[in-house]
Amino acid sequence: MSIGTVLVVIPTYNELENLAIIAGRLHAAVPEAHLLVVDDNSPDGTGKVADELAEQPWVDVLHRTGKDGLGAAYVAGFAWAREHGYDVVVEMDADGSHAPEQLPRLLAGLEHADLVLGSRWVDGGEVVNWPKSRELISRGGSAYTRLVLGLPLRDATGGFRAYRRPVLDEILAQGIASQGYCFQVDLAWQVWKAGYRVVEVPITFVERERGESKMSRAIVVEALWRVTFWGARSRRSRDRLPTRR
Ligand code: GDD
Ligand code: MN
Repeated sequence: MSIGTVLVVIPTYNELENLAIIAGRLHAAVPEAHLLVVDDNSPDGTGKVADELAEQPWVDVLHRTGKDGLGAAYVAGFAWAREHGYDVVVEMDADGSHAPEQLPRLLAGLEHADLVLGSRWVDGGEVVNWPKSRELISRGGSAYTRLVLGLPLRDATGGFRAYRRPVLDEILAQGIASQGYCFQVDLAWQVWKAGYRVVEVPITFVERERGESKMSRAIVVEALWRVTFWGARSRRSRDRLPTRR
């Protein structure tokens, strides 16, 4: 069974030294995949590199006017993917933390799922070169979402994922308010609640060697209050169990 056409969406903000490398690795690892770069007018000129890459038939670029958060960049990329009729959409970081060489594993997972999460915290998953503090935020964040939302996932905040089209249609129809990295939890939660099949496959996440993380205190705070709010609301409306499909 074929899973159809695949679009990999890479959001970028100041990834000048990383973008061409990750694009090359992607094309070598999964030659049939197309790439959409969603750049938020990076001051370092990442958008120009993206335009140069887009001279190749398998690369396109969406230029946005300014830094508007990971969530908004992905929503714009998903809408583009739908307009262009892709069957599968992949989320991937530009900085090399997500190995394109592991993408076939995610895509294989889609044979029996609607959403596949690359997971650092299942057996066989790992993180290389992260400070203890980041590991705590990530593991703690996932544990908190399991507790508060009842979401049965080990790594709900990860950003290396593959979605089938019907899932994207549903997400775009519902609308997503999350701006920062809690966008990832938001999507996993909504997709799971709607009764779709969500699976985790192990990945090795390697901390970036070039450029800087955009993770900030504001991003952690947004995630914390939103998850807490969703948890309280769902307990009131008793919609904690996924809908049967
Ligand atoms: N267009 C756009 N706009 N891209 C952005 C923005 C933004 O506002 N903020 C971040 N990005 C891009 C970065 O350029 C990179 O390609 C990707 O999003 C991830 O950003 P990083 O700053 O490298 O994230 P990280 O390494 O700290 O966090 C990773 O782990 C988080 C927690 O598990 C990512 O995989 C996150 O998705 C994940 O939630
Ligand atoms: Mn990163």
